[in-house]
Amino acid sequence: MEREEAIALLKKHSTAGASWRAHCLQVGVAARHLAELISRRGHPVDVERVEVLGLLHDLGRSQGHNLRHGIEGYLLAEAAGYQEEGRICLVHILKGHTLHHAVSLGMLTGEEQVRLEEDGWRSGDPSLEEKIAAVADALISDTGLVPIEDKYANARRRYGGHPHLYEDEAWVKGLAEEISELLGKAPYDALQEMRDDLL
Ligand SMILES: [Fe+2]
Repeated sequence: MEREEAIALLKKHSTAGASWRAHCLQVGVAARHLAELISRRGHPVDVERVEVLGLLHDLGRSQGHNLRHGIEGYLLAEAAGYQEEGRICLVHILKGHTLHHAVSLGMLTGEEQVRLEEDGWRSGDPSLEEKIAAVADALISDTGLVPIEDKYANARRRYGGHPHLYEDEAWVKGLAEEISELLGKAPYDALQEMRDDLL
């Protein structure tokens, strides 16, 4: 999938003024930047793929702003022929939880779980490209660069202190540490340095 195709899919399912569309465009820019730095340090990473995943991760918000936006985005991408790229929609919501646990949290139905498993859904470790996109998302609140702690403090204020939000924060911070190893610096600092390039 090319970035233009990802942008076209995003635009097809959102209105020009939708704040979540702006968020996706911004996460695309941020994720690409992190991937370029990692690539320049000699680590193999598919930079184009990372940007595409950043652009698509919240596609499901077109169907509602709730915990189902992961599966909804995956289904929209799949229907457009981009099943593999659409995984990020679900991965960034699952945050390491199994599909079974995600059903109990209301992220998808039992029928959807069965269908995903029949289609060969890989639980377990996300790809490096998916990890970079998930970390970029965790550092961008709407379109602004924020520390991961601040994004989760906001989420707790908005949605209450669900235990899974603390688990989610720990999962993303673990990924951010992995990415830091590859970047040679914290992802937040790397994005801070390119702030002028953010939208
Ligand atoms: Fe999301």
